[in-house]
Amino acid sequence: MKILVVGGGGREHALCWKIRKSPLVKALFCAPGNAGIAKVAELVDIGSDDVPALIEFAIEKSIDLVVIGPEAPLVAGLGDRLRAISIPVFGPNANAAQVEASKAFTKELCDRANIPTARYGKFTDPAAAKAFLDELSPPYVLKADGLAAGKGVVIPETRAEAEAEIDEMMSGKFGAAGKTLVIEEFLKGEEASFFALCDGTTAMPMIAAQDHKRVHDGDKGPNTGGMGAYSPTPIADHALVRRTMTDIIIPAITTLANEGMPYSGVLFAGLMIGEDGPKLIEFNARFGDPECQILMTRLLSDIVPYLKACADNELALMPPMSWHGSAAVTVVMAANGYPGDYEKGTEIRNVNAADALDHVTVFHAGTKRGAKGELLANGGRVLNVTASGDTYAQAIERAYQAVDTIDWPEGFCRRDIGWRALESSR
Ligand code: AMP
Ligand code: GLY
Repeated sequence: MKILVVGGGGREHALCWKIRKSPLVKALFCAPGNAGIAKVAELVDIGSDDVPALIEFAIEKSIDLVVIGPEAPLVAGLGDRLRAISIPVFGPNANAAQVEASKAFTKELCDRANIPTARYGKFTDPAAAKAFLDELSPPYVLKADGLAAGKGVVIPETRAEAEAEIDEMMSGKFGAAGKTLVIEEFLKGEEASFFALCDGTTAMPMIAAQDHKRVHDGDKGPNTGGMGAYSPTPIADHALVRRTMTDIIIPAITTLANEGMPYSGVLFAGLMIGEDGPKLIEFNARFGDPECQILMTRLLSDIVPYLKACADNELALMPPMSWHGSAAVTVVMAANGYPGDYEKGTEIRNVNAADALDHVTVFHAGTKRGAKGELLANGGRVLNVTASGDTYAQAIERAYQAVDTIDWPEGFCRRDIGWRALESSR
């Protein structure tokens, strides 16, 4: 098979790394990729948002399967365009990708499919939005409806802050994404990211992971795309997975299919697990980043037949996936200043030495090669130092040993990734 992976982050490096191991793969391309992906795939100089160029490339190379990593090309209709010319694709069409592109779409889907989620209101008028706050108690959860690069959720503690925030969001703080606002009840509990493969009608559970969204140790500081992740998650036991499938994943894909928007690809459910079970915080139409790095590390099965089965609507014919029982953890190394302003182009040394350590894989997120072949930082989140072990403690120790092998004065990482799992295993 000839496979094209679309994207160029740590998630796509992990996907390419896992796909490359499959004996079914004859050629693997990644557009645009990064310096790490270049070791396992042939890089194609096409941006992940350039739908026409990606289509042209897939036709020219007779690609057998396109795997779409990020949400933007999904929302832009890359899946639809490929399906229209009968090129198998892993990733939903634009109508089903609305689960991620519109918070209001997902809340309304939850209503129709009876999926447990936070009580909410949807507003285009600031006065009505403010009046709805009467029905809730603080803290308040305010969400820009559209895609806002993971930054569109604000959780003010007081009524005054919430009202000021409503004005800012609705007058363009997040551009058009904030024209419609979703306001939600604040849910208490523990968060987990759960993933299921879907082929339009059938869903197959993968596993759960937990990420660390805040930038600083102790889960402090501003939200980021994710500073680290680990799995297994003690809270996501068999009973929780079963309940998530029956209460959330299956009703969602059944309703979408019945309404003519079959969901094909990976469905990512952000869960809040409280006293009365899992509730849906959000859906994403793609793998989590950095959760995917952990999933690929723990996956024993060849992933390619599963990706293809999703694309071909044949998931029901596949046996369950098998997973390593061991623990996996990934530590994100980011450029100093992230998630605010940061410098690009600083040099990173000793990544190969870290990657060569036993049970360690360093996935690249934002990297590129300099003129002399040196490795340069090329983004906010730059490396995902990933390790596995028999216990959380061992996996965490290996990951930080690898982090300490890497020489990058202009980068930083959290030092407490996996603390919750470590605590619960003591
Ligand atoms: P989202 O982009 O919808 O995942 O929201 C970003 C983060 O905001 C989540 O990971 C949660 O930590 C938090 N959050 C979102 N919705 C709620 C809610 N209803 N209750 C509590 N926390 C929430
Ligand atoms: N790590 C969370 C996400 O990918 O949205």
